[in-house]
Amino acid sequence: MKRVVILASGNGSLAQAIIENAKELDVQILAIISDQPKAFVLERAKAADIATQIVEMKKDRKSWDLDLLALLRMLNPDLVICAGFMRLLSFETVSEFRIINSHPALLPNFPGAHAVRDALAAGVNTTGTTIHWVDAGVDTGEIIAQESVEIESTDSEDSLHERIKIVERRLYVQTLRELLPTLEGSRG
Ligand code: GAR
Repeated sequence: MKRVVILASGNGSLAQAIIENAKELDVQILAIISDQPKAFVLERAKAADIATQIVEMKKDRKSWDLDLLALLRMLNPDLVICAGFMRLLSFETVSEFRIINSHPALLPNFPGAHAVRDALAAGVNTTGTTIHWVDAGVDTGEIIAQESVEIESTDSEDSLHERIKIVERRLYVQTLRELLPTLEGSRG
């Protein structure tokens, strides 16, 4: 059984998909960590009996980085899963842990925090989702999987994002199903 930690800042529908498939994926979710004390994902974690940890952003960014790193070291996961985590991770953290992320666009197009809005503003017909390894850049890590979503002329940012998230939830679980068995056992 692989040991994972989920990082999430918001609603947590991606985290929920992983929670619901944890048994089939043969993962133990050690904790859900959020930078947002009121994030709904924390309610989802409690409902599923999963430990929660809050690491609120501080004025001193370096100190926040160290707090998160210390927590991850204590939990010692095989994989860190970002599921709507809206913070960049430090070079030390991404160097020490295997971390993946799901992004709501076809990277390298539309990186950053407003990927859905940016795709609509660019007037493209197709966007989608990307599962990628996390490095110290903004959505620049190696791509693991991608899937397209057509943009409709009537789409708002919300309607498009909701359709992308349906695909993201399936693709994230499918990617984890393939990726987890290839990871080496527990980190020493
Ligand atoms: C997802 O679309 C995810 O790709 C995105 O936040 C949403 C989280 O939804 N993440 C990013 O934009 C990270 N740059 P959720 O809170 O319902 O799981």
